Amino acid sequence: MSVNDPAEITSALREERKFPPSRQFSERAWIKTLAEYEALCRRAEQEPDAFWAECAREIDWFQPFDRVLEWNFPFVKWFVGGKLNACHNCVDRHLNGPRRNKVALLWEGEPGDSRVLTYQMLAEEVGRCANALKALGVGAGDRVAIYMPVLPEAIVAMLACARIGAIHSVVFAGFSADALADRINDAEAKLCITTDGGWRRGQAVELKRNVDDALARTSSIEKCLVLRRVGNAVAMRPGRDLWWHEVVPGQSPHCEAVAVDAEHTLYTLYTSGTTGKPKGVVHTTGGYLVHTLMTMRWVFDLRDEDVFWCTADIGWVTGHSYTVYGPLAAGATLVAYEGAPNYPENDRFWQIIEKYRVNIFYTAPTAIRNFVKWGDSWVERHDLSSLRLLGTVGEPINPEAWMWYHRVVGKERCPIVDTWWQTETGAIMISPMPGVTVTKPGSATRPLPGVVAEVVDRQGGPVPANHGGLLVIRRPWPGMLRTLFRDPQRYRDQYFSQIDGVYFTGDGARRDEDGYFWIMGRVDDVINVAGHRLGTMEIESALVSHPSVAEAAVVGRPDDLKGQAVAAFVTLISGKQGTDGLREELRTHVAKHIGALARPDYVRFTEALPKTRSGKIMRRLLKQVAAGDETLGDTTTLEDLSVLSRLREEE
Ligand code: WT7
Repeated sequence: MSVNDPAEITSALREERKFPPSRQFSERAWIKTLAEYEALCRRAEQEPDAFWAECAREIDWFQPFDRVLEWNFPFVKWFVGGKLNACHNCVDRHLNGPRRNKVALLWEGEPGDSRVLTYQMLAEEVGRCANALKALGVGAGDRVAIYMPVLPEAIVAMLACARIGAIHSVVFAGFSADALADRINDAEAKLCITTDGGWRRGQAVELKRNVDDALARTSSIEKCLVLRRVGNAVAMRPGRDLWWHEVVPGQSPHCEAVAVDAEHTLYTLYTSGTTGKPKGVVHTTGGYLVHTLMTMRWVFDLRDEDVFWCTADIGWVTGHSYTVYGPLAAGATLVAYEGAPNYPENDRFWQIIEKYRVNIFYTAPTAIRNFVKWGDSWVERHDLSSLRLLGTVGEPINPEAWMWYHRVVGKERCPIVDTWWQTETGAIMISPMPGVTVTKPGSATRPLPGVVAEVVDRQGGPVPANHGGLLVIRRPWPGMLRTLFRDPQRYRDQYFSQIDGVYFTGDGARRDEDGYFWIMGRVDDVINVAGHRLGTMEIESALVSHPSVAEAAVVGRPDDLKGQAVAAFVTLISGKQGTDGLREELRTHVAKHIGALARPDYVRFTEALPKTRSGKIMRRLLKQVAAGDETLGDTTTLEDLSVLSRLREEE
């Protein structure tokens, strides 16, 4: 992994505005005063084990843990000796009291259909699905690939896996057949759960067809369970493919939740890194659940009567932690929506907030920038008075978008929590506490209690206030990844080898005079497109797999809506012509190999790529070219730059 020099990470941004929470908000909050907040942080700092043990007592344990933490650098175990079940904690735990008939899920389909499940109903659905999984030969430790849109059954399937100790690997339904096949192969998944299709902007996306393509290149899958969603014709292969409606509803709703070890793997989730191969991030049961649950209280200030909506797809970690495990562990009523924010019109989100009287709304800066573009009138035609707290995640939010969110959506009444975390961290790490923290637009503010985050230089030394550096975490935290699936060496190399003794996040950051963190984005070869992480190497390998391409380099280019856009520089096999037709073909080729999200926005054909003498592509130069040129047409001086870079090397 190449890490840019932190001294180069500069930020022109100096935001002076400050927003304290209102007294009305603070008075009713879980954490009401600065004194309470500081006491919590002090306790977490001075007696971390006792602090996290207290947090862990919020959930049910089938067998209590003997030890809070075992830190065998860089491998960690939390709540050692404890036994529990994540599904029991998300469902059964709520059945013996007033939450039994409380709504767990308010689900809204893109075409306008909807479903409501109480905790009791959810328990029965999950029980039937868990029994079906067992009938299909799935047991504890087996991997199950879930390739579905945001449907009640997708959430049910995740919980059913957890119930029997199977490991789910959710693959975002926007990923291609190739991406699905790679993930199934890496995990050696036994079962695939999918749908005939999914709705996206009024169109039926043919998911089962993608699965068929993927399964042609995998050998581990024994059965494929298919839920009917859109009603399109699908090919069902006898002996392998089974309809959900023929297998699941006939099962008994009772299925015992198995007691698993606190360190039993709950799920793997693939995310992009700095090589061509996605990493299977491993999350385990006890620590993950405790961390997600505590953040529901600290960050989202969740009360029993709240309606909570996180707009993330279940294919991303945000969907795992804040559409499924966090809210359900907390016994919340959650909203989940299947489709696009602009279907049938640009006000779909505001319509849903009004319809379900949503109180807490959590979305991504890229979505907010789209709302700004679409105009205030879409928001203003809806009654959003139910909202009391707003959140963002996925990338730095620019202060203008923050101010718009605050003014137009929050009516200057709702605190905004800008939450920094990663697939690897499992749950929120740096965020305001809404009843206490004075927020500054664009800053995720301060680490949560028990999170020891710092900004350091490349040697791991301290960096003065307001100087750019690298964001690291010094002590283990309960939700942290435990390893990369079957690749502990890569886990060590990726996160614990850059800077001595600490977890390196891959992000640049600065800390201001108040100790607030300002995240400046990735310093490695990872780009962030619309809040989703893409490895430049992955896109490059996809491009190079095209028969006309000799070499490719991919960089991020600043984009008003997506944060970063994908810019590709491509050299062709001799004799091939860089035509507009080929440009389109390459864009489609990448979408087919990875998914539409990775489709390059710009493709620039070039004679050569600028390289160092050791042959490393000089991405920094390419970034400058990409950022400086509106069209990436043939008027840029890339060839000159490539010469320039060689000259620099000679110096
Ligand atoms: C990367 C992690 C965690 C859920 C979504 C993304 C960036 C995330 C923020 C924020 C600035 C942020 C970082 C991080 N990021 N949240 N509030 N402010 N940057 O998960 O795909 O694992 O990406 O997203 O660069 O490293 P992910």
